[in-house]
Amino acid sequence: MSLQISDLIAQMTLEEKAALCTGETAWTTSGVERLGLESAFVSDGPHGLRRVAVVPSLMAEAIPATCFPVAAALSASWNVDLAHELGQAIAQEAIDIHVDIVLGPGMNIKRSPLCGRNFEYFSEDPLLAGKMASALVDGIQSKGVGACVKHFAVNNQETRRFTVDAIVDDRALHEIYLAGFEIAIRESNPWTVMCAYNSVNGTFAAENHYLLTEVLRDQWGFEGFVMSDWGAVHDRVAGIKAGLELEMPGPSPDRTQAVVDAVNAGELDMATLNQAVERLLKVILRAQETPKGGGTIDVAGHHALAQRIASECLVLLKNEDNVLPLDGNERVAVIGKAAKNPVFQGGGSSHINATRTDSALDFLRQRSEVQYAVGDASVDLDQAAIDEAVTIANGADVALLFIALPESVESEGYDRDNLYLTPQQVALIHAVAAANPRVVVILNNGSAIDMHSWINDVDAIIEAWLPGQAGAGAIVDVLFGDVNPSGKLGETFPIKLSDTPCHLSFPGEQDIVRYGEGIFVGYRGYDALEREVLFPFGYGLSYTQFEYSNLHVSAIDFDLGQALQVTLDVTNVGEVAGKEVVQLYVADVESRLPRPVKELKAFAKVALEPGETKQVTLTLDDRAFMYYDPNYSQWVAEAGEFDLLVGSSAADTRLTTRVNLTEGTPLPSNIALNSTLNEWLADPEGAELAKPLLDKFFGEEESDSLGVDMLTFFQDLPLPQVLRFTGEDDSDKNPDEIVKDLVDKVHARSMHKIQA
Ligand code: BGC
Repeated sequence: MSLQISDLIAQMTLEEKAALCTGETAWTTSGVERLGLESAFVSDGPHGLRRVAVVPSLMAEAIPATCFPVAAALSASWNVDLAHELGQAIAQEAIDIHVDIVLGPGMNIKRSPLCGRNFEYFSEDPLLAGKMASALVDGIQSKGVGACVKHFAVNNQETRRFTVDAIVDDRALHEIYLAGFEIAIRESNPWTVMCAYNSVNGTFAAENHYLLTEVLRDQWGFEGFVMSDWGAVHDRVAGIKAGLELEMPGPSPDRTQAVVDAVNAGELDMATLNQAVERLLKVILRAQETPKGGGTIDVAGHHALAQRIASECLVLLKNEDNVLPLDGNERVAVIGKAAKNPVFQGGGSSHINATRTDSALDFLRQRSEVQYAVGDASVDLDQAAIDEAVTIANGADVALLFIALPESVESEGYDRDNLYLTPQQVALIHAVAAANPRVVVILNNGSAIDMHSWINDVDAIIEAWLPGQAGAGAIVDVLFGDVNPSGKLGETFPIKLSDTPCHLSFPGEQDIVRYGEGIFVGYRGYDALEREVLFPFGYGLSYTQFEYSNLHVSAIDFDLGQALQVTLDVTNVGEVAGKEVVQLYVADVESRLPRPVKELKAFAKVALEPGETKQVTLTLDDRAFMYYDPNYSQWVAEAGEFDLLVGSSAADTRLTTRVNLTEGTPLPSNIALNSTLNEWLADPEGAELAKPLLDKFFGEEESDSLGVDMLTFFQDLPLPQVLRFTGEDDSDKNPDEIVKDLVDKVHARSMHKIQA
């Protein structure tokens, strides 16, 4: 503890300490005027600043700031350098308009495409989410502004988000829902974490000691403070004990009093409160090292940056007969409300008062001969609007259909009901496709949509997400080939909603949501279910083609602690420059517990001129081969073979090789009285020690009398039961006693082996 902080704590009264643990206003931490301690200013987040002008007001109008591409878009760039740059730009604006801590990134896993806030989240995959979040945090914090990763944890739906209890098993919790947070915490040390509203396995996130202390601090080494989501606290004292330092929003005199009373009553240790105060002060004082306010935002510079970032986020989903790019000589029918009034962000706390907006229609008019029809002005069926669109489509060489999910459909606070476009939009697509042979659909949405009823009628589809205030320029650049699309999906697009692995348990029943699909989220689920998808995870087309060759691994037989370097060559074999996202998946050939068919473990984005070849190096550390073993409450790797699959998407593997882990994580035997016959046989010590007993019976002829393979028949019986059935009685001990003795011997031998 620095002297300054310990001095401050020594001088603070109990009341001042308790007050520090709650906000002073909706957007500031509490100051202590008497001691010269100023408050810190926090603002949403995550893809730009929503810095309210009038401090005490929760919903007040925000100061204009740049709206960058949302997380769903950013993750499709698979470009961590861009995320870092974006973070730096947001931090610069934070310095200009006085924000100490940015409430982002949001990094919950996209369990279902229905989650209303998916546009604010990165991916269905924890590695992609974790790496993007980490780069963003690094970018923000490199300028002396704090970041806040949220919403910790297992907040994967908006339905009943304040009250729902997410019931998730240990493996899924660690491998899917916590793994991304773990990357962000370990690799970029965010100043703050925001807890989720919901409960996790029976305890509200705001009071969850396991999550906020045991996992976050004890296991991952988090050093900042945890703040509540706005209104997530139920029991303030329990929260402080669990590791929740700051309740937001404030002020809440009753909460402050509750903390004071708890200390006075001996229910809350002063030491625990002091620790919370110390964690808060560290961050608040750190924020003050970078003076803020009084600047002006670089509107033009950041608008240009927002466009450059958006250019890498767009995903070309379909491009039949290379209808794209356009050459500029076409007569173009531009159809759709979103062409004129861009839909570039979602609703809720992330909603930014953008400094500027561009319209694709304006840009298109500068480049081609354009006719415009609004087409989908209303969500209800409007035949006149469709007819008008058909008329201009009839006379054009190409029809550009700008289709945006209505802003009210995707928002914080509620989930989508379905994955469909509006009936008007579907009717419009059909009608325009019947009128014009060359139809391009440009989509604005924050998560997967169902395209089955119209995808075959159109020639090209650009997934433009919610691309931020400068997205229109990026869309037009991609349409004309000034930018070669290089985005890839950070989430699977299913054929239909009922294909999603969590379909039967999303969003749960009343206040319980059971994560029944376990670790099989996103492509992990579709792969395991052998279910066809519309567009796989990691997918995206380019105007050029890439070839993969020369896969090489630094070692075929390797040990834990020895990172593997995987190298390969990528060549641009097409006519134009482009960027490729190289994805490395790991597949465990054989494992004790069920594992996904494959899992993303590394990726890189590489820019290539036509004809150019570059070598790409990807690194796999121990974790790339591990799973979380609930029996041991830790990550483990098993010795044996793993396939390395290098590809251009989860469904497009180009190169493979096999490596062999010589020794797995050393684990003590967990053989117990009730372990099954199979478990005994799988345990090296157990198998040896139990062998004499088992041989007696299983070696004999009559063991075949039931017409079954007896070893298989008995495989799931606890060993004492096996002994009872097989009549193992030539000992003066009963079967339980015999097995207890064996268990002790197995443990003694196994410990001896590990220590050796
Ligand atoms: C959201 C958070 C946000 C906070 C402050 C909450 O409703 O869940 O993401 O940071 O409000 O606006």
